[in-house]
Amino acid sequence: MLRILSLCGSLRAGSSNAAALAAARALAPPDVRFAPYDGLGGLPHFNPDLEDAALPEPARRFREAVAQADGVLICSPEYAHGMPGAFKNALDWLVGGVEMNGKPVAVINISPRAVHAHEQTLEVLRMIAADVGEYSSILAPVPAGPVTEASLLADEAFSGKLAAGLAAFVDVVRAVVDTRAGEGGEAARIKPSEG
Ligand SMILES: Cc1cc2nc3c(=O)[nH]c(=O)nc-3n(C[C@H](O)[C@H](O)[C@H](O)COP(=O)(O)O)c2cc1C
Repeated sequence: MLRILSLCGSLRAGSSNAAALAAARALAPPDVRFAPYDGLGGLPHFNPDLEDAALPEPARRFREAVAQADGVLICSPEYAHGMPGAFKNALDWLVGGVEMNGKPVAVINISPRAVHAHEQTLEVLRMIAADVGEYSSILAPVPAGPVTEASLLADEAFSGKLAAGLAAFVDVVRAVVDTRAGEGGEAARIKPSEG
């Protein structure tokens, strides 16, 4: 079973980005389990002083959620040509940890206009050593106006693009997990003879 942490950059109750992530969950292969992260709004403002002391519990839980995931799937709006503050704040809490190191990530962009936040997000993810590749950019525009998971799934243009992007992402996650298992298997095989 592959574990994907889904992270929505919008705190809005009727978020179209959250609807897109819900649609992704519905379209995912059967061996993929989604764990939506719902603590974004509860993270304290990032402050390195807080990191030097005992990590605040919400930040510890967030890092743990990332650590438990085989891959991270993000969908976020753009605000004023940038990432929403709450979302950037969450990523800042990951800078001092190792949880994102080498972890495959994909970023869904549901708005053709929102190029700045999309690129910024990928840049921050590269900076914190996540595994970012061509597969990381999933462009799947949603129609104008309010959307729901059901309306997005019924939209063949959207769901086709999302399913294709998701399949490419999941292939990478699966390959990374298989490689790690192989390395673990190798270590386990070698260890006893060494001892
Ligand atoms: C304060 C504010 C600033 C925004 N700035 C941009 C922007 O710079 N570029 C853009 O494409 N959309 C912008 N938008 C539109 C949002 O990205 C859009 O409404 C999006 O659907 C919100 O995501 P949500 O439905 O998941 O909450 C802005 C919206 C708000 C409220």
